Amino acid sequence: MSPAPTDVPDTARRRAAELHALLHHHAHRYYVLDAPEIPDADYDRLFQELQALEAAHPALLTPDSPTQRVLGQVLPGLAPVRHAVPMLSIRTETDTTAAGALAFDARVRRELALAPDDPPVRYAVELKFDGLAINLRYERGVLVQAATRGDGETGEDVTHNIRTIGQIPLRLLGETAAPPLLEVRGEVYMRRDDFERLNERQREKGGRTFINPRNTAAGAVRQLDNRALADKKLSFFAYGLGDVQGWVQPPTHSATLDALAAFGLPVSAERAVVAGAEGLVTFHARIAAQRDALPFDIDGVVYKVDEIALQRRLGFVTREPRWAVAHKYPAQEQATRLNGIEIQVGRTGKLTPVAKLEPVFVGGTTVSNATLHNVFELRRKGVRIGDRVIVRRAGDVIPEVVGRVPEARPHYVPNFRMPRQCPVCGSAVVREKGGIDHRCSGGLFCAAQRKQALLHFAGRRAMDIEGLGDKLVDQLVDGGLIRTLPELYKLGVAKLSALERMADKSAANLVAALEKSKATTLARFVYALGIRQVGETTAKDLARHFGSLDRLIAASEDELLQVRDVGPVVARSIRTFFDQPHNVEVVEQLRAAGVHWPEHEAALGPQPLAGRTLVLTGTLPTLSRDEAKALIEAAGGRVAGSVSKKTDYVVTGAEAGSKLDKARELGVAVLDEDGLRALLAGG
Ligand code: IVH
Repeated sequence: MSPAPTDVPDTARRRAAELHALLHHHAHRYYVLDAPEIPDADYDRLFQELQALEAAHPALLTPDSPTQRVLGQVLPGLAPVRHAVPMLSIRTETDTTAAGALAFDARVRRELALAPDDPPVRYAVELKFDGLAINLRYERGVLVQAATRGDGETGEDVTHNIRTIGQIPLRLLGETAAPPLLEVRGEVYMRRDDFERLNERQREKGGRTFINPRNTAAGAVRQLDNRALADKKLSFFAYGLGDVQGWVQPPTHSATLDALAAFGLPVSAERAVVAGAEGLVTFHARIAAQRDALPFDIDGVVYKVDEIALQRRLGFVTREPRWAVAHKYPAQEQATRLNGIEIQVGRTGKLTPVAKLEPVFVGGTTVSNATLHNVFELRRKGVRIGDRVIVRRAGDVIPEVVGRVPEARPHYVPNFRMPRQCPVCGSAVVREKGGIDHRCSGGLFCAAQRKQALLHFAGRRAMDIEGLGDKLVDQLVDGGLIRTLPELYKLGVAKLSALERMADKSAANLVAALEKSKATTLARFVYALGIRQVGETTAKDLARHFGSLDRLIAASEDELLQVRDVGPVVARSIRTFFDQPHNVEVVEQLRAAGVHWPEHEAALGPQPLAGRTLVLTGTLPTLSRDEAKALIEAAGGRVAGSVSKKTDYVVTGAEAGSKLDKARELGVAVLDEDGLRALLAGG
């Protein structure tokens, strides 16, 4: 449905059609393939040009126009949609062991009347996404309707919301003509990072946090007002078909998904075709091992007989196909008892209420502690000691209490209150006006902060003191051996050997590691101090900008603002840190203890890359990424993570990805390792 109305000048009509094609193409590169070919600003320009054309010639405005992903549509209610082909569910195998897969294969073979020596059945195996099932109806390639599953026969029309999801094509792509009718089925879901970001923003605002990505996605899709989706980034994976007319479906499920991907629909890359029960078991185990590292929640894997002809032979029982099964993994949410609440004190003094739980198996491990984030959130969730609560553990995110199971409390339990004094050091607990976080005001007098500060100081990217881990730090601080950072360097073998479980050899090793750590760089040292808001990159920028610690200590907020990427919050935090006399004292004592770094001028030598920003992509023939980065930084350059107009050079190696495309698009100079070496040599 390219714009073809009559009363519009030919040139406008042609340009609109061109813009449609361009914008659909670039939206697919950006949202689905995650490999944009043009900068965002160029996309915006094309978009605005089309908007202007449509404003001048309203007849050009068609439902598949890329401008139609608009927010601000409000419906009085969701209209019912009768599914042309019912949306079935799949049988769930709740036995999470390999037996679940074996049972499915055995059943399929029996129902197909296969003999034991017949070849193994081929299965399409995929992930079971944890979101909301959606039917997308494309007529002649244009998305005309999106509906929820509902009861399987009748769902709800949610087109206005689905249109806002960038990953869902408003128009099918492809060389061949789009089929007259193609219904695509799949799952709308929310990535874990998008979910965490949403909740992080909610917490900053002091607003309600969301329970889990699935509920958030499902809730968002069913909103009447699609402005509710503005702050919720949703994603989509296609996994099957609904009604189809005038299109010859490929002979296998796997090839069908390939065809959907070619139409521009997002299809998960984590899928395969495997042979027999053994293939199912291997896939189940492989995905189980990867589950935490996936960017989104799954609650299992799905096995489907790959050949459509075999699927037809197997048919259905009541509302479930005989050719598919969902094989579950352990749940990522569980109910358990909240036995108590403890306060944890972090490196910056932040007090976090931590739930002490009746141990519970969730997301594949036993959890007995979970974060409650802050007291306001705890109140909002209405959680009190003794309640049954829901614990969520998904991916690498720390386990958290997401809510309580509503049930009567046998007796009155008071609301939890934050302590007025730090439970570790007794210093006053303070909260910034209007802020959410409570903090211990004890600074490095507080053992908890001292422990965290020591661990940070000793970290690999800071002073890199090998062998100084949490157990030892606990012993050193609790045993009163260390009160301030500089005292670390006064530890001798004798003192250390007196510690429990510390052999002479380990003590000697630690003393050697301490000695070795004294020779460092200014950037590492600044980072090691643990100044709030100063991460590794900022520390490097500060070191490069000021060149000497004394100049950094003396810098005013205005001067700090001159440093690349340093904003008012960071500048203020740095100034505040050095305004505390005891912090400057710590710095002086560390220097007196022998911590040193090459001072700027002496250390730098020639700086052929001063002020230049480089981006690394792909594998270089001889240099590791860290080595290349170190060389570039030693030459005064900076390594950035993504290509932009500010990038001076992109250094590429084998299997370079979209960064190379982007460099070409932006006309950024591209080098290989030899080219980089020439630059470093001042060429
Ligand atoms: S196929 C006839 N494949 O799980 C088969 N479903 O009861 C129809 N789901 O709510 C479903 N990932 O939304 C299929 N890879 C996948 C899936 C999947 C998640 C959901 C689906 C439905 C439930 C199945």
